[in-house]
Amino acid sequence: MITKLLSVLAMLSATCATYAKEQVVVATQNTSIVFTIGDNGRLYQSYFGKKLDNAADYALLPLGKEAYLTHGMEDYFEPALHINHSDGNTSTLLKYKSHATTRHEGYTETIIRLADPVYGDEVAMHYVAYEKENVYKTWTEISNKNKVTLEKFASSMLHFYSKKYFLTQYDGDWASEVHRHTQELLFGKKVVDSKLGARADMFTSPFFQLSFDREATENAGKVLVGTLAWSGNFRFTFEVDNIGGLRVISGINPYASQYALARGETFRTPDFIFTLSLNGTGTASRSLHDWARRYQVKDGLGDRMTLLNNWEATYFDFDQPKLLSLIGDAKKLGVDLFLLDDGWFGNKYKRYNDTQALGDWVVTADKLPDGIGGLTEEARRQGVKFGLWIEPEMVSPKSELYEKHRNWVIRYDNREEYYFRNQLVLDLGNPEVQDYVYGVVDGLMTRYPDIAYFKWDCNSPITNIYSSYQKASQSNLYIDYVKGLYRVLKRVKAKYPNLPMMLCSGGGGRTDYEALKYFVEMWPSDNTDPVERLFIQWGYSQVFPAKVQCAHVTSWNKDASLKFRVNVAMMGKLGFDINLHEMSAHDLAYCKQSVTDFNRLKPLVLEGDQYRLISPYEGNHASTMYVSKDRLRAVVFAFDVYPRYSEKLYPVVMEGLDPAATYHVKEINRADGSQGSVTAYSGNYLMTVGLPLFTGNKLCSRVYELTAR
Ligand code: DGJ
Repeated sequence: MITKLLSVLAMLSATCATYAKEQVVVATQNTSIVFTIGDNGRLYQSYFGKKLDNAADYALLPLGKEAYLTHGMEDYFEPALHINHSDGNTSTLLKYKSHATTRHEGYTETIIRLADPVYGDEVAMHYVAYEKENVYKTWTEISNKNKVTLEKFASSMLHFYSKKYFLTQYDGDWASEVHRHTQELLFGKKVVDSKLGARADMFTSPFFQLSFDREATENAGKVLVGTLAWSGNFRFTFEVDNIGGLRVISGINPYASQYALARGETFRTPDFIFTLSLNGTGTASRSLHDWARRYQVKDGLGDRMTLLNNWEATYFDFDQPKLLSLIGDAKKLGVDLFLLDDGWFGNKYKRYNDTQALGDWVVTADKLPDGIGGLTEEARRQGVKFGLWIEPEMVSPKSELYEKHRNWVIRYDNREEYYFRNQLVLDLGNPEVQDYVYGVVDGLMTRYPDIAYFKWDCNSPITNIYSSYQKASQSNLYIDYVKGLYRVLKRVKAKYPNLPMMLCSGGGGRTDYEALKYFVEMWPSDNTDPVERLFIQWGYSQVFPAKVQCAHVTSWNKDASLKFRVNVAMMGKLGFDINLHEMSAHDLAYCKQSVTDFNRLKPLVLEGDQYRLISPYEGNHASTMYVSKDRLRAVVFAFDVYPRYSEKLYPVVMEGLDPAATYHVKEINRADGSQGSVTAYSGNYLMTVGLPLFTGNKLCSRVYELTAR
């Protein structure tokens, strides 16, 4: 017993010990963050970097900067916290009170408690350190015994001191998400934020990469990758100060969100998730992928279903016979599930287009006379699962719901309504609305228990920003909306723990790690052009594993062969959104073969380590590989996009293999159905010399399977 206790204590001191009372160290396997309590009782961040070999050296570190800067004191730069007290005083000063670390399987949690001796504001900073994955999750709890208003309330503040800083952000627009842009940060502030309300992203994604001294590459350089787990307005502030220090503040966007905190209430910020890689962005991504599958994404370690979606095959133009035939197509194709998209609901106002019926979640009788039950019955008969599209947070102004419950809608009573995609957003801050939205899912599941999957869409940001429920606390609207959404999703997950759902928001509007606690996968973009998807999937892969990126084969970009489109989609969670009846028998056979190949490759693509070998940003080719955790199997995808005439072609040098193993390499998934010949190479050869996988042909793709013998 005593030996056991001693070994637990030893483990604790190795990862998160208190040093001579003045320091708190939070550490993963490779990195550590060191806080020092100054003589003035305030908390400073003394270090964040490669774990020092000798723990005693932490005591030698300079004090650093105040860890969680507050407004109103002597620092002249952006604060992390700003509280307005009821006497009009807007200052806060935080002093260290206590800290404690608890150890769990695979991670530690450290809570540092700070308090303002004058006003009694209390701040609890939480740091969860995932040892093996080198990932940190941090959030803050803010409370006060009196009524206060929170003006600024960051999840995290981090300090750095380097010669140079390079920020990589991912921005774009609808159907053009996650374009990578890098810039050097110089004195002053750079803000990346959004204020879309019901989603984090349309113009910029809630994640970034920050390299130190020089721009990090896939395999070299020190780089911080951070993301906010919040499905609403977010803000990252990067501020280089007068002495060349960089302060990174991450959290909810405080824009129009002064938050009224009642007496004794605690405000919990969303999680900021980050990893610091000492050898490039590839390692950082793999760390986040491992962490996400193991700790964050719903059913992160479970299997995923391939599917046939009808959206791009039919849009709103379908009826029962058409859908029954599509369910048969799903079976023919060999996928696991048929997913019925938008357009199945509304009777007074029928959903024949996107101008009406959102909110009226009853089947359109003349489109589907046998209801959803008729479809699930056919799916059961065919041996495929059935999934359904919903958008329960929204309402069309032409709907029975709007007619009955106008006070549930975020809208102005005294102004003309304006619409984004002809719809309005329901007021999820209102508990009655939360019950209603939960009831949409619960009602459908109760009526049609054979529904095996939902695609949960959210096509509009919050518009007409006024809640009749919030009355005088309008500035709580944005935050309470997202909190209300999570309350609903929690209830859905509690009642239907095994019900998988796809997170969608007019393409990639909702691609954040908090929502992914409730969803098994997400829809990265409405743009399914395979060339664009090479970039889009590349962008999201910086932070999210392939397992959560739904990738569908569609008819976008007919210049690209079916094989090219399929191969791009095989690098995510494969699905189809295409009319099989317009396909030749040969193409259909190819798709079927691809489903079989994908099912065999699932353990690599969905669970393995992803190596981005050649970036589409670099030129006319791209290549990505996935290696099983035991390094016995791998798959390499190679794409020639638009090679130039007589362009020089260089070999693709692989990564992540066992140098001592011999791999049998075979081209698979060929367009003509033939089998490639098998050649044996050592892992060392493949990772040193590489293979000539590129061609000079436009829009050409090849897939190679590697098996260690
Ligand atoms: C937007 C989604 O991203 C699409 O996939 C589709 O479901 C439409 N909404 C349906 O309205």
